[in-house]
Amino acid sequence: MAAKIIDGKAFAADVRGRVAEHVAGLQRDHGLTPGLAVVLVGEDPASQVYVRSKGKMTVEVGMHSEEHRLDADTPEQELIALIEKLNADPAIHGILVQLPLPKHLDEDLVINTIDPAKDVDGFHISNVGLLSTGQKSMVPCTPLGCLMLLRDELGSLSGKDAVVIGRSNIVGKPMAQLLLGDSATVTVAHSRTKDLAEVVRRADIVVAAVGRPQMVPGDWIKPGATVIDVGINRIDAPEKGEGKTRLVGDVDFNSVSQVAGAMTPVPGGVGPMTIACLLANTLTAACRANN
Ligand code: GUN
Repeated sequence: MAAKIIDGKAFAADVRGRVAEHVAGLQRDHGLTPGLAVVLVGEDPASQVYVRSKGKMTVEVGMHSEEHRLDADTPEQELIALIEKLNADPAIHGILVQLPLPKHLDEDLVINTIDPAKDVDGFHISNVGLLSTGQKSMVPCTPLGCLMLLRDELGSLSGKDAVVIGRSNIVGKPMAQLLLGDSATVTVAHSRTKDLAEVVRRADIVVAAVGRPQMVPGDWIKPGATVIDVGINRIDAPEKGEGKTRLVGDVDFNSVSQVAGAMTPVPGGVGPMTIACLLANTLTAACRANN
């Protein structure tokens, strides 16, 4: 039987609607407008698309939005000085520095300069520590979005076998922490994992976050499993015409959808949830700053 296709786009629109209602309430009752600053260094085309889309949706939910675009060769001290200025700005409750950064910049240093209370990406070392010890923290947006979709689909995740493919700081590791927090039995697989197919075949929940187009085929999937595809890969699509491309995930949609119980599509699955969770985190940061 064909898998249920999880509509991340509709779910994310619902989350943004609820964020917008809360923002309107904050403004009415406390005269407070949550503010999000996004910092983009350089001209990576994919990052530019994400940043534009983040800015548009921030305004749509009634928040204050700032974009800071810096040249690719900006000295580290200049970026640090901008973050310190945003840390001290009472109109800004969330700061996001778009990754990856140009090679001459120390990503850890830059991220750890952000005030942890304004770290809406949840990448600051103190938020990472809080999450991994089960304490209240800012939770990274993409894994948080995946968790919301999984809870909605499955209810309790307790005792489920979950396999996360990919061990990045942005998705794989925090995803594993969140699944553990919901009492799943978690395996983190990666490029050195032996017999990945066998590992994935045991899983009730598969989260694929490796950035390799269509690498997970349907015959790796346990029948009825829930599959969350975090990948956004652009591949050539000669069938659409010369020079055309299309977006695909890390799982092979056609074969996986024959076996899985439910799965997210690409596009329209996890992607929209990431921005919705960013807005939810910004709202949370503004509420905490106001208390
Ligand atoms: N680059 C890719 N995903 C992300 C993300 O979630 N946050 C930031 N800051 N950069 C990214």
